[in-house]
Amino acid sequence: MALNRALIFLGPPGAGKGTQAKKIAQHCGAPHLSTGDMLREAISRNTELGRIARPIMERGDLVPDDLVMKMVAERLKRTDCQGGFVFDGFPRTLAQAEQLDKILESNGFGKPQVIDIQVDAGELVKRISGRWMCSVGGEIYNVNVAPPKVPGVCDRDGGKLVQRADDRPEAVGERLAVYERQTKPLTDYYRRKGVLDVVDGARPVEEVSRDLEKLVRCS
Ligand code: AP5
Repeated sequence: MALNRALIFLGPPGAGKGTQAKKIAQHCGAPHLSTGDMLREAISRNTELGRIARPIMERGDLVPDDLVMKMVAERLKRTDCQGGFVFDGFPRTLAQAEQLDKILESNGFGKPQVIDIQVDAGELVKRISGRWMCSVGGEIYNVNVAPPKVPGVCDRDGGKLVQRADDRPEAVGERLAVYERQTKPLTDYYRRKGVLDVVDGARPVEEVSRDLEKLVRCS
């Protein structure tokens, strides 16, 4: 199966973008491109980008557009992106969205499909405080609703589960504020282009996934 376009997941921190983007990417046989995961990898490898990004991410702010655009443009050159791709956490500013439009156009992709996952703030904080991630493969768990079989260990690859540095309460507040200020306006940007679908994310993971499989056609 192929997606043949860019699929973009919008939504606040903790809405379930990563959880759903991974599933739909697997369903459509397309790569899952999480800018958050790419930046966390740069931090763990201690690259120049990682050293710049670490303090910014830890306080809950956005990494500068030029650095994120360079990282994304490099990733899109890889052959696995030829049949389309699923973005999770990108674009996050109007400047990123406008530059992405140009990249898509110059690579022969049509308009993207954009899904906005909506969840209220109280539920977001609850989800983020219960989140644990695999330090090896990035698998996402939640101690309240999606726990691993063995506490602290990834079901898939046995990796150690860790909490993200930016899931501390002080950083979460900043991330939610940054989302409202810089990323939420993208819903209007894409609505005006006629490419936005809104999904109620405050339901069990499987229900949200079922809706997404109906909305996202892959051939
Ligand atoms: P990023 O990694 O993208 O984080 P985020 O957008 O803040 O989103 P989260 O990963 O917190 O949440 P999610 O929506 O993916 O939810 P998840 O599926 O994990 O970005 C981190 C940082 O990197 C940014 O703050 C910024 O500094 C930087 N960055 C990244 N991209 C950037 C860009 N483009 N430009 C500039 N800077 C950038 O689910 C959350 C929890 O809820 C999990 O425990 C999960 O198991 C659980 N859950 C999921 N779905 C459900 C459900 N339906 N019901 C109950 N629980 C659920």
